[in-house]
Amino acid sequence: MRTQIAIVGGGPAGLLLSQLLNRVGISTVVLERKSRDYVLSRIRAGVLEWGTVELLRTAGVGERMDHEGMPHDGCYLAHDGRMFRVDFRDACGRQVMVYGQTEMTRDLYAAQDAMGATIIHDAEEVALHELDGEAPFVTWTHDGKPFRLDCDFVAGCDGFHGVSRPSIPKEVRREFEKVYPFGWLGVLSHTPPLADELIYASHERGFALASMRNPNLSRYYIQVPLTDHVEDWSDDAFWQELKRRLPEEVAERLVTGPSIEKSIAPLRSFVSEPMRWGKLFLCGDAAHIVPPTGAKGLNLAVSDVHYLAEALKLFYSSGDGSALDGYSEQALSRVWKAMRFSWWMTTLMHRFTEHNAYERRMQDTELAFLECSAAAQAVMAENYTGLPY
Ligand code: FAD
Ligand code: DHB
Repeated sequence: MRTQIAIVGGGPAGLLLSQLLNRVGISTVVLERKSRDYVLSRIRAGVLEWGTVELLRTAGVGERMDHEGMPHDGCYLAHDGRMFRVDFRDACGRQVMVYGQTEMTRDLYAAQDAMGATIIHDAEEVALHELDGEAPFVTWTHDGKPFRLDCDFVAGCDGFHGVSRPSIPKEVRREFEKVYPFGWLGVLSHTPPLADELIYASHERGFALASMRNPNLSRYYIQVPLTDHVEDWSDDAFWQELKRRLPEEVAERLVTGPSIEKSIAPLRSFVSEPMRWGKLFLCGDAAHIVPPTGAKGLNLAVSDVHYLAEALKLFYSSGDGSALDGYSEQALSRVWKAMRFSWWMTTLMHRFTEHNAYERRMQDTELAFLECSAAAQAVMAENYTGLPY
């Protein structure tokens, strides 16, 4: 089998890249380790930057998002038992869109099917070959049978635990990592959201976030120690803890119900440089991870894909490889700025056992400053709604 771009990983990054390339006649094959149902069962991101929204429209997958997604003009930050609002429109003239990663992925599958794109599921033992030569290829097995795909380039869109990043020799890679000493326990429930916009809460018992997916689907998170297990948390215990961490005025409005998904995600900041090696280009979580505070992970995967799709279009239309050569530097420049923002917001909002009274007072003062400074709110809004591509 032969294609122009072999895409490893059929998550949001891989599917969107395939969609953007297929629309301009560049051929792709997507190799995904899991089944489609499995990919669609993963509950993850919920907040799209405006650049992501516009790119999805350009890719021809914006229709349902524009119909069912919820544009938000701001968010609330809670501390000391009360909350204030940051108005993104006032502060920087932009919005975000609340639309689940699952729905975005579903839309991409539908558009790819309609186009007759090739997505191979349950691809096992995927391996990348000859990445530093002129004739790269990918091999895998399916039902125990071996397969081979020859290509011009490989796009590594296979997430943090994929095979693409480790295919770059260790001596070439430079890795930067910060592991946070806590995780997020997340619950999805068929209940109306707590408020009209998201509430990020800093509390002495730990961080909490009240988010949503649609008018009858809520998503909540609380900071938990890394030693906790999902089985330790009954629904009742989760709702009680969430309520304690929210300002009383909203906590009393919280509608609880059975959880339909419950999971713990560890928090980590990670970047692997470079994002290109020979014929291999990394996109999304394959190259970098941000802690979820600030909702940057999916949006970064989308901006990487944008840069790579544009570079490939230039190459195939004119033979000009300069944008491909500049891909890693261009993508990393935006990645590091999102790293900074999610590290800032994580550090601001969570409880760290190693913090002393002075450091806790600094967190409170930073929040108090944010509350009263239009300039500080503009900086937050500019980053939250997404830096330009
Ligand atoms: P993935 O979604 O990980 O997709 C990679 C795909 O590759 C997967 O389908 C996987 O099965 C496949 N794969 C892996 N290994 C192989 C292999 N060897 N061969 C073939 N296929 C393989 N981001 C935001 O922007 N906003 C948010 O609000 C937000 N909230 C989040 C909340 C939580 C709880 C979590 C955990 C994450 C959140 N994120 C958020 C981050 C976001 O979900 C990720 O950044 C995003 O999924 C990255 O997309 P991706 O396509 O790069 O990787
Ligand atoms: C969600 C996740 C985030 O990390 C965030 O900052 C906002 C919302 C969510 O899953 O809804």
